[in-house]
Amino acid sequence: MKRYSIVLLACLLASSFLSEASAQRFVRRSLERAAVQAALMDAEVADTTLYPTSLSPEGEMELKTIRSWVSGFFPGNLWYLYAATQDPMWLGKARRRTAALAGLADYDRTHDLGFMVGCPVGLGLELTQDEAYRDLIVRTSETLVTRFDPAVGLIRSWTNKSGKPNPYLVIIDNMMNLEMLFRASKLTGDPKFREIAVAHADKTLVQHFREDGSAYHVLAYDVNTGRVDEYRGGQGYSNTSAWARGQSWGLYGFTMCYRETGDKRYLERAVRSAEYILNHPNLPSDGVPYWDFDRPGEERDASAAAVIASGLLELSGYVPQPQARRYFRAAERILKSLSSDKYLNPAGSAHGFLLAHSVGHKPKGSQVDVPIIYADYYFLEALLRYRNLKNKH
Ligand code: GLY
Repeated sequence: MKRYSIVLLACLLASSFLSEASAQRFVRRSLERAAVQAALMDAEVADTTLYPTSLSPEGEMELKTIRSWVSGFFPGNLWYLYAATQDPMWLGKARRRTAALAGLADYDRTHDLGFMVGCPVGLGLELTQDEAYRDLIVRTSETLVTRFDPAVGLIRSWTNKSGKPNPYLVIIDNMMNLEMLFRASKLTGDPKFREIAVAHADKTLVQHFREDGSAYHVLAYDVNTGRVDEYRGGQGYSNTSAWARGQSWGLYGFTMCYRETGDKRYLERAVRSAEYILNHPNLPSDGVPYWDFDRPGEERDASAAAVIASGLLELSGYVPQPQARRYFRAAERILKSLSSDKYLNPAGSAHGFLLAHSVGHKPKGSQVDVPIIYADYYFLEALLRYRNLKNKH
């Protein structure tokens, strides 16, 4: 009996060692691939004021200017590679690609400044403590809060081309831009940024989710009443469907807001989003959602999967067992899927994009089933979060 127990224990230890080793293998493989791909992209795009975004259906590189909402992601990828390797070569590249983003400090036409500046410059600040990055975060946050209307209680997402005040459009993605505001309050001691972030999160919590736990994409508020006039489909299939990336922004955004405030309502909201995603009958077994939960069988969205994995890894640190383990395992499943040949582009291919199979804006027929730069960013972030958690445990 004793001998049997020892053999059993040895088998269990060996299998946990093996799964540990294979976990580390897939992370290492993906990070190594990320380095090869980012070096290729960096070499291909000589102009540091143009930002790799996606590939056309013909496989041509799509570049955007600094004012695109995606401009911060390639610089962010370079910062993550520096964080992963401590290799000064990545530091130099990250600094070079981040430099032009300083031109966004006073750009007040979008709410996406958190993605564009908060993500890459926030990473740059954490990794270098460079005062210039601190100042850029603060100045850009000053610009972002000019889009907050206290009467509505929200940051306006897009400015109307007509110049008219209505509709006052707010998208679930906007939750992601609040992280920069929390950082700005910590950097300056000025509570205003944080108060605006909290007001925005509070109203989003009440207005932006359906009874079944899913998030709308676009809400059109009336600036005079502060009430919702219209629920729009935006980048999702319809105004009643669950656009996959929108669900991921909600999960990630409220997890981050809980980290920054300790407000349990935000934690409950993040958990509801996680449960909605993980229990959805249309979630494929590899954990990579269809571009819209209501369009099963259509294109997958690797970008939504990467954001979900990153959000779940953070959320797993805020909930008790066995829920924490379930979220961690779900994130691991996604990361293993994204690290497989189905999603990971071959080294030296795809102009340096890391992941295949994302969807940008299917209703417009734009960026459907192609690599997209923010998928790579959140994948890298999730891999590093996963590695840190594994090392900690
Ligand atoms: N923020 C726009 C998108 O998620 O595609």
